[in-house]
Amino acid sequence: MLRNQTKILYGGDYNPDQWPQDVWREDMRLFKLAGIDIATINVFSWALNQPDEQTYRFEWLDDVMDMLRDNGVRVCLGTGTAAHPAWMARRYPDVLTVDSQGRKRKFGRRHNSCPNSPSFREFSRRMASGLAERYKDHPALLLWHVNNEYGWRCYCDNCERAFREWLKSRYGTLEELNRAWYTSFWGHTFYDWDEIVLPSHLSELMDASNIDKTAFQGISLDYDRFNSDSILACYKLERDAIKAVIPDAVVTTNFQSNGTYKPLDYFKWAKELDVVALDSYPTNDMPMSLIAMRHDLMRGLKGGRPYMLMEQSPSQLNWKDVNPLKRPGVMRLWSYQAVARGAESIMFFQLRRSAGAFEKFHGAVIDHAGHEHTRVFRECAELGRELERLGDRLLGAKTAAKVAIVFDWDNWWAIEHSSGPTERLKYLEQIQKYYDAFYERNVQVDMIGTESELGGYELVVAPVLYMAKRGYAARLEAYVAAGGTFVTTFFSGIVDENDRVTLGGYPGELRKLLGIWVEETDALFPGQTNAMEMHGGGASGLEGTYSCGLLCDLLHPEGAETEAAFGGDFYRGMPALTRNRFGGGEAWYIASDPEEAFLAAFFARLAERKGIRPIAELPAGVEASVREKDGFRYTFLLNHRAEPVPVDLGGESRLELLSGSRMSGAATLPAHGVFILQSPADETEERSGFAEWAATT
Ligand code: GLA
Ligand code: ZN
Repeated sequence: MLRNQTKILYGGDYNPDQWPQDVWREDMRLFKLAGIDIATINVFSWALNQPDEQTYRFEWLDDVMDMLRDNGVRVCLGTGTAAHPAWMARRYPDVLTVDSQGRKRKFGRRHNSCPNSPSFREFSRRMASGLAERYKDHPALLLWHVNNEYGWRCYCDNCERAFREWLKSRYGTLEELNRAWYTSFWGHTFYDWDEIVLPSHLSELMDASNIDKTAFQGISLDYDRFNSDSILACYKLERDAIKAVIPDAVVTTNFQSNGTYKPLDYFKWAKELDVVALDSYPTNDMPMSLIAMRHDLMRGLKGGRPYMLMEQSPSQLNWKDVNPLKRPGVMRLWSYQAVARGAESIMFFQLRRSAGAFEKFHGAVIDHAGHEHTRVFRECAELGRELERLGDRLLGAKTAAKVAIVFDWDNWWAIEHSSGPTERLKYLEQIQKYYDAFYERNVQVDMIGTESELGGYELVVAPVLYMAKRGYAARLEAYVAAGGTFVTTFFSGIVDENDRVTLGGYPGELRKLLGIWVEETDALFPGQTNAMEMHGGGASGLEGTYSCGLLCDLLHPEGAETEAAFGGDFYRGMPALTRNRFGGGEAWYIASDPEEAFLAAFFARLAERKGIRPIAELPAGVEASVREKDGFRYTFLLNHRAEPVPVDLGGESRLELLSGSRMSGAATLPAHGVFILQSPADETEERSGFAEWAATT
């Protein structure tokens, strides 16, 4: 919740600099009709604002700020540094990046500056500072939007020099670096810092079409960290320039790729943001659970704090091969999906559709027709009215989950740099698969990082915890000893934070906690499977056989009980699922990549044993999420299906916030419809009638 926020903010990217002033006046009329109260401006206006090194021209921006103030629209002010001006590229070529093939880029596109360019850093710092001076007292100013969708890779000489400095501060000595990177392999011992070069396609990268495939894991992993840190330093420079002028400024930047952008460690970034901001562009073929997971991740980045939905399209995209319209009701549905998981703004890219260039066919609130009589505008205006009615009811509401899934960028990078045992292992796919098992059952999940507190959770799941960072195994042990339940999978505990194998037997530092020793790992071809044969009568409560594949760990119990065994191949009979009692809790190991039905059944039983209840029992395609505030619980029901579905709301009559009517018993959730049901938070789940755990397995 932002200072003085009284409702869910509604608006988005607005580019009046592309339009004459008479259009601005019309925009203000249309904004009012649509209930728009926030506009993100100046995001790509650097070239306009600064025609040369010395000159700044902000008069147009003054006019826009004043106009927005006069019309009750608050400003999310871009610093505009995401596309450098052409004159800058010409006079200061260090702002231009070098790609992984060693080619120096020319002026063009956007998101195009080298993060270690002294010129870029200085010019962007000055710009942020100048804007802060100019608008520090402007009443329309609500928050700052630094740059835009940060993220690129650069392999220039400045980056190379900066990499060496970054390494010096991480390792101190070359001896330590040589040890951490295991440079005795393939004759890589370094005797001078200046011998170290960036891992590009001219050095360590092995496949022109693949940025992950490296000949040297340690270097490439540190380059990922360094690159994320370098870009973060650019953000911090602008943020600090703003805060030097406005100490209590609210500063953010928008996260891209729906929140799982691989090159930037958003857990580390989130610490530097006053509020997390997400750009969400689901495509029609994306499973809804993937989007839900990313929203939960955005809430998790700052330990459960609300975040902003900074961008979404009111209708179609323009950058896919084929860009379908959002069907009627879908924009509203996806907006509430964000609110259901912690978003406190609904913002679009863009408010008025450009007349030219790359994004002229991107969805917008105001279309090329230029008036309000369009389907998309009507849908936007209806949502605007609903958000006005909702007021501050949901602001600051919390989501309480008993299940946490661990998500970690270092682990993601390291797994996908790994050469062997399989190229087919994709971290995000694994996370998604585990998340799905809970999503499908409407069990609320928190997405957490490796620094997050574990104590409040009944169940912590860390899929493919390949990298056990310093101290993490001990924290997991303490969590389980105190009664927690921990689940991890094949290919875990293999390396330390430098991607060096923990010797003495896998899963390394997790071995004691899991009570197993993994001797070998088999890799399976696409379509090739093994089976997990349940022993029956075990703590998992499962019987029968499930299919598995991808990787199979050949393991020996060292105190753990075997709950399932492999059904095929020469390791038939070896454990495929183990459970280790450890202190007051238990630690499970899933030794292969099981079919989804296994995960659904396994976690259903585990949740039942731990008293973790679903939010509601609902037909497939209906999503549920809960937020709580001031003694009330708000249950969101979201119908992702294109037809109405019957839902059972139980005996208690409850207020449905969007319609204002009271509801109970059998009800129909319209196609793409949404209910937000209010109930007292202390109402027992039995009484609410919402939660009947369906332990169908
Ligand atoms: C991103 C950018 C916007 C715009 C949209 C289009 O999110 O931040 O400037 O280009 O994509 O989908
Ligand atoms: Zn560079």
